Amino acid sequence: MAQQVLGVIARSKGAPVEVETIVVPDPGPGEAVVAVHACGVCHTDLHYREGGINDEFPFLLGHEAAGVVEEVGEGVTDLEPGDYVILNWRAVCGTCRACLRGRPWYCFSTFNASQPMTLTDGTALTPALGIGAFAEKTLVHSGQCTKVDPNASPAAAGLLGCGIMAGIGAAVNTGAVTRGDSVAVIGCGGVGSAAVAGARLAGATKIIAIDLDQRKLDWATGLGATHTINATDADVVEAVQELTGGFGADVVIDAVGRPETWKQGFYARDLAGTLVLVGVPTPDMRLEMPLIDFFSRGGSLKSSWYGDCLPSRDFPYLIDLYLQGRLDLDAFVTEKITPTQVEEAFTKMHHGDVLRSVVVF
Ligand SMILES: NC(=O)c1ccc[n+]([C@@H]2O[C@H](COP(=O)([O-])OP(=O)(O)OC[C@H]3O[C@@H](n4cnc5c(N)ncnc54)[C@H](O)[C@@H]3O)[C@@H](O)[C@H]2O)c1
Ligand SMILES: [Zn+2]
Ligand SMILES: [Zn+2]
Repeated sequence: MAQQVLGVIARSKGAPVEVETIVVPDPGPGEAVVAVHACGVCHTDLHYREGGINDEFPFLLGHEAAGVVEEVGEGVTDLEPGDYVILNWRAVCGTCRACLRGRPWYCFSTFNASQPMTLTDGTALTPALGIGAFAEKTLVHSGQCTKVDPNASPAAAGLLGCGIMAGIGAAVNTGAVTRGDSVAVIGCGGVGSAAVAGARLAGATKIIAIDLDQRKLDWATGLGATHTINATDADVVEAVQELTGGFGADVVIDAVGRPETWKQGFYARDLAGTLVLVGVPTPDMRLEMPLIDFFSRGGSLKSSWYGDCLPSRDFPYLIDLYLQGRLDLDAFVTEKITPTQVEEAFTKMHHGDVLRSVVVF
């Protein structure tokens, strides 16, 4: 029997989000219904609401979630009702070229539920990032559920489902930060602060947090930054060089994603250093630079999609580190809110007042 639950939807471009009754079908083959316990508010939800991702309104928002599997469809053998899971938007297919080459984190054929969730009048909803978890229950593909230790609080655990994983992974997976490295992170919102935490986990000895907002720098210090630079009154490249014996950092992570921050990152590296772009630029942004600098400075220029994570590999161990007190996921949860407060949370996000607001059910 399909179920009716409350969900947060974006009905049309730019209009405030609404709490509506939605219909969640029974899980079909390969699918699962998950009772959502918590779901973080991410910039991408706001991008959907603003029509910045596509025009497939109405959207069921929310995608950084943890919850408990309620029911599974035919053929699902690795998941059962009662399992505590983090939802992911990289349910790898196992058969595409990337998967077959042993690089499943590049999978371009990831799984989502095939049945739509709908409004009560039958209008199909487009779930954000194929998840749609600002809802008491959601329908996903079973591969989108990653089992983790149920002792982890859902508000903290769910954050690994998107932005926090992207930041940690930008440092640990894409940037391959290792013991003794110097790391600089430009932009310390949820993603950049997570990159700071990832750099600490990986054993970086110098971790430089850079932001325009002093609150962000204070939060980043709590998560492991050893030095901070307030970019409103500093030359970022010079300041990073000064803090690294004149060399520049081994790895720079741009968690803003603008031409000016990327350039700062490019020049704030040591020779042959690595630059990781994890912030998402808009399509109109352009870069103009001397090509000779790319050659003569050497090194590695990378982008990080979802922190190059593999949910089955990365979520369980990060949750274990969290439960051991070695990764403070709770520090990212600035506030817990109800579904009716998502619109307010967008405003706070816009003003930089939060690392994450988390909807709890
Ligand atoms: N690559 C991925 O898979 C992935 C996943 C999730 C989010 N993202 C992207 O990561 C970026 C950051 O997300 P977030 O949730 O942390 O956003 P956020 O708005 O919370 O954080 C951005 C931070 O950058 C700072 N900032 C802005 N301009 C700056 C500048 N010129 N110099 C220094 N600091 C500056 C802001 O003060 C803010 O603290 C966004 O572009 C988001 O879309 C990427
Ligand atoms: Zn694949
Ligand atoms: Zn997200």
